[in-house]
Amino acid sequence: MSELALDRGRAADRAGSGVFGAAYSTARHQVRRLVNEYPRAFPTFTSSGRWDFEEDPWAPTWSAGFLTGMLWMFSDSDGTGWWRERAEEYSGLLEPRKHDTGTHDIGFLFTPSWGRWHQRFPDDRTRDVLITAGRTMAQRYNPRGRYLSTWVAPGSTFIDVMMNIEVIFQAAQLSGDAELADIAHAHARTSRRFLVRGDGTSVHEGWFDPDTGVFERTATHQGYRADSSWVRGHSWAIYGFTDAFVWTGDPDMLDTARLLADTYIDRTGDALVPPNDWEDPQPPLPHESSAGAIAAAALLRLGDADPANTERYRRYALRLLAALCGPEFLASPGSGWEGVLKHGTYHYNNGVGVDESVMWGDHYFVEALHHVIHGGRQR
Ligand code: GLY
Repeated sequence: MSELALDRGRAADRAGSGVFGAAYSTARHQVRRLVNEYPRAFPTFTSSGRWDFEEDPWAPTWSAGFLTGMLWMFSDSDGTGWWRERAEEYSGLLEPRKHDTGTHDIGFLFTPSWGRWHQRFPDDRTRDVLITAGRTMAQRYNPRGRYLSTWVAPGSTFIDVMMNIEVIFQAAQLSGDAELADIAHAHARTSRRFLVRGDGTSVHEGWFDPDTGVFERTATHQGYRADSSWVRGHSWAIYGFTDAFVWTGDPDMLDTARLLADTYIDRTGDALVPPNDWEDPQPPLPHESSAGAIAAAALLRLGDADPANTERYRRYALRLLAALCGPEFLASPGSGWEGVLKHGTYHYNNGVGVDESVMWGDHYFVEALHHVIHGGRQR
């Protein structure tokens, strides 16, 4: 799409029509249908385009915050109260997970859901849930290695954990407990040191000796190999380091977010929507749309946080978002495809959710659209 068409589209989208406004309506339609047909269910990915309700076959269930987060975003432009009612109901279903010490994905569960609730209607209940969730997440901190461990093992950390530290920063702010903020910041600095390479690519998993804290090696689960670049992890990293900068003001966090963003733009270029792994010499599928959706949302946030580069990141994010709004990626209502974004992949190596809709892809696509339509005012 040309710059002129994008500018016209943006103006139209602010007025509620245009390519982004139309895609937002499509997403809202698909999500309403899911909620009406399968109330109180939290699917993670589709199978042949239909939501799959089996237990997550790979990780401790982690994606329920994304559906809930979309309900909150849709509630912003709803005069009937229907979306807010659903958003509160679904958030309530997640509340017991605030004590879940079996996963590092506490931020994925609580920031899009209770974080959005608190942003819109702060009260003691939302505050207490976020503080408890943040404290639970902080229990994963290893002070010797200065990292937060994953559900895989006490010696493992993932690049995705960068998406789960905001709940700790927020708990620190809401409770006044500065030690929590120190933990989140220390984890981000460790991730910078060991999970971001000199060439601006990122590592999926880092392994430490949990007793001494010594860093041992890199690895991957969903990427091509240990020394390659799993792009969804990279997109999580752009977003996570941007948030770490917003919470701490640490210029190294901003430099890191910029480095990662520039790498995404250089590596993906005019293709806009990346493959699963940039280093895979023969990618089995051309696209992993959820990595693109997360990158679009992250670049918009980075553009807001980095006034010196706002236009550069925003321009690329809008081109990427426009590509995702095209017929190749956006499901068409009535086609029988139940998700929003097609051509996402959860775990190619394990054959889980391959070339399907994945809930986080739908969520960050909606978040990027919401950002454009609402001018970045509400998350
Ligand atoms: N567990 C995070 C992801 O699959 O992206």
